[in-house]
Amino acid sequence: MSELFASDINSGNIKTVGLATGSTPLDFYKYVREAQPDCKAITTVNLDEYVGLAADHDQSYSYFMHEHLFNDVAFAKHFLPDGLAKDSAAECARYDEVLAENPIDWQLLGIGGNGHIGFNEPGASFEGTTQRVQLTEETLAANARFFDSIEEVPTEAYSMGIGSILNSKKIVLLAFGEEKAAAIKAMIEGPMTNEVPATALQNHPNVTVFLDEAAASLLTK
Ligand code: PGA
Repeated sequence: MSELFASDINSGNIKTVGLATGSTPLDFYKYVREAQPDCKAITTVNLDEYVGLAADHDQSYSYFMHEHLFNDVAFAKHFLPDGLAKDSAAECARYDEVLAENPIDWQLLGIGGNGHIGFNEPGASFEGTTQRVQLTEETLAANARFFDSIEEVPTEAYSMGIGSILNSKKIVLLAFGEEKAAAIKAMIEGPMTNEVPATALQNHPNVTVFLDEAAASLLTK
């Protein structure tokens, strides 16, 4: 996975990378911090941000990205949704413009136990653009581990839509642990359905998936 990133970056064909937060990419970001590939010409665009958290809040995704990557590796520019935007519709439109001006060459994805990608929860449209979304109980519970209590987890987020994710030239999805196994089975072997947002990737021509044994344990084919 790390070698794939390094060789793709070194190919010189990547101008914009789409980045993800959560536990899954932590080792990957550690590798990038240590390997220090030349990213000075590369723009980053993140998948999502919690509504209501300032960029410098220690649970914001902006903070996460700075702590795990941006403070140590120089990029050209960073884009994330603004969790404190006053006008949600304007913020979504701004982010869609960012994506139109910075088409994603290489998109990193995790997956939720419920099959979400970004914060596109079950039921999300496969054509969706940036939206302000309500997080499901399952997602709030999964993310509560980062907060003092579940009540502190923001209940809404701005997220790139599935349509925007599918516009990426190449997608690299990582999933580790048995809590991801059912979502991975549905994504790879199940029918395409909005109820499992990651099944939208079945329509994408260039997706690479990295799994550990536990995440792959329900695959039959
Ligand atoms: P995780 O989150 O990496 O913290 O498991 C992934 C996701 O919810 O997309």
